[in-house]
Amino acid sequence: MKTTQVTDGVYRLSANVHDILFEGFWPIPNGVALNSYVVKGEKCAIIDGVCNWDGVPETLFAQLDQMQVRLEDIDYVVINHMEPDHSGWLEAFRTLRPQFTVYCSERAKPLLEAFYGIVDNVQTVKSGDTLDLGNGRVLAFEDIPNVHWPETMATYDTKSKTLFPCDAFGSFGAVSDDAPYDDTLQEEHIEFFEREMERYYANIVTAYSAPTKKAIEKVDALDVRIIAPGHGIVWRRDPHRVIRDYKRLSSYAEGPARPEVAVIWGSMYGMTEQMVRPVVDAIEAEGVPTHVHRVPESGLSFVLESVLKSSGVVLGTPTYEYKMFPPMAAVVDELGKKRIQNRICLRFGSYGWSGGAQRELDEINGRLKMNWRFIEPVEFKGRPRETDIELAKERARELARAVKQWVLAESRVH
Ligand code: FEO
Repeated sequence: MKTTQVTDGVYRLSANVHDILFEGFWPIPNGVALNSYVVKGEKCAIIDGVCNWDGVPETLFAQLDQMQVRLEDIDYVVINHMEPDHSGWLEAFRTLRPQFTVYCSERAKPLLEAFYGIVDNVQTVKSGDTLDLGNGRVLAFEDIPNVHWPETMATYDTKSKTLFPCDAFGSFGAVSDDAPYDDTLQEEHIEFFEREMERYYANIVTAYSAPTKKAIEKVDALDVRIIAPGHGIVWRRDPHRVIRDYKRLSSYAEGPARPEVAVIWGSMYGMTEQMVRPVVDAIEAEGVPTHVHRVPESGLSFVLESVLKSSGVVLGTPTYEYKMFPPMAAVVDELGKKRIQNRICLRFGSYGWSGGAQRELDEINGRLKMNWRFIEPVEFKGRPRETDIELAKERARELARAVKQWVLAESRVH
């Protein structure tokens, strides 16, 4: 781990993680960066933390040396967000440097005790409160609840106009210490992190898109020159690019998203599968790109990303014991829990002695207030006949046209 200077008096301290499932179940084939920052005035604050710091004192000392900071210089630890990928280092740090004050939100305080037994030297803050580090450097705090947990806040360095928003404006993807800034990366690499951002957003943030919009409004009111998130790259050249990215992603959750269709399908004995390719081809023939996933083979993480960025959804699912094919039911349930709402959806699938898949789909749609609109489904007994396939292709074209019209209509409104 190498420290880098973000701007005068602000340093980035980061570690990449590869061989884990993020939050215990999201795959990260391209890794993820865990970023923390040291901000120096007369006094010194460390913001967020490096959870996978190995706990070996010499490792930390070496990092601090690179910033010409001594351990005893760190007077304050700012915990923007209590999730352990940012706070998990606190206990080990406290064994080395017990004399620091934690700055956190009121809601974080009981979590500090619950996770780490920390009750002393805790200063709670709220929007508008500040911490003067001296030398003209004042940290201002802003509550951004539910981005990602209820206790989350952002910290803003009024001197360098750097925003430390923790999970907000973050992405998956390991970051090279040699080029951790948008101004040190080629455009293709920035676009890589924007792609990683979409799955990160779909997996971690999308259920909180309404609070994310409120947080963005607060950020818009600040003069932000640098965005230094808890994950991903630091945005120095164009912080408004990642703000625009997050505005777009948060709007995708309630739709419309892109004029694209996510095709999610599962099949027990290949009957439902026979309809997948004709449906995909019919949609793409209308000029609408598709993202095709078979469940349960395709992981939930990637399915969520595809549905988040698509305005239309196809669910190819047979009836299974009077309900949907269970892996499909699990996917739809999670889409509802992630609050991915207002999609135009076509369902098709095979049944044996009875239908029932649509009934369960309608139940989940209502219970989780998804507000999805359904094109009339195509169901068939056993294998699909030619007439079934022709009907599915017609309905797929109807879906594609409806998606295009919806996106176009919304773009005119905005
Ligand atoms: Fe990166 Fe919600 O923790």
